[in-house]
Amino acid sequence: MEADGLRILIPAERIRSRVAEMGRQIAADYPGGSLRLIAILKGACFFVSDLARAIDRDISLDFMGIASYGRNKTSSGEVRVTKDLDSEIAGLDVLVVEDIVDTGITLSYLCHVLQQRKPRSLRIATLLDKPSRRIKPVDVAYTGFQIPDEFVVGYGLDYAEQYRNLADICVLAGGPPEDKPR
Ligand code: IMP
Ligand code: MG
Repeated sequence: MEADGLRILIPAERIRSRVAEMGRQIAADYPGGSLRLIAILKGACFFVSDLARAIDRDISLDFMGIASYGRNKTSSGEVRVTKDLDSEIAGLDVLVVEDIVDTGITLSYLCHVLQQRKPRSLRIATLLDKPSRRIKPVDVAYTGFQIPDEFVVGYGLDYAEQYRNLADICVLAGGPPEDKPR
């Protein structure tokens, strides 16, 4: 791994126990029953599959795809929906499941879009949070780990579509060049 320029930041075992804890907390916070999880493609797929199994409640699952414009050139916050939900969320308890909150641009836009569809409640669960990078404030209800401003890969997170299948969350030595896709 070191040879690949990867350094383990959060080993698989710590991820596993933290995700189990988050699942228990979420189950306790929604005693009333069914919950719609909305996972953001593609990074959150690994996290949501473990988190969903750790929530001992009725849940249903949907996915949303999002792409950002000019992330590195501007903080204009323009975001595009590349795959919309399969079904309505009006009247439902909704939990958005994301891999990482960085600038907050993606989630602040997404929450604005989802609120217009009148869910009963709307909260965010993120595996990772880099608070020092925040540009747009986002109200995150559940955070797995706060991490420093380093570019990480693994457990769903990619660099140019690589490394998503690593079991551990690793720091990519040197970080990504600023104009490469995140
Ligand atoms: P935000 O709009 O800046 O909060 O962007 C969040 C998105 O940026 C995440 O869903 C990731 O796709 C990507 N991202 C931010 N930081 C990292 C990182 O350290 N590794 C991999 N992807 C990242
Ligand atoms: Mg993402």
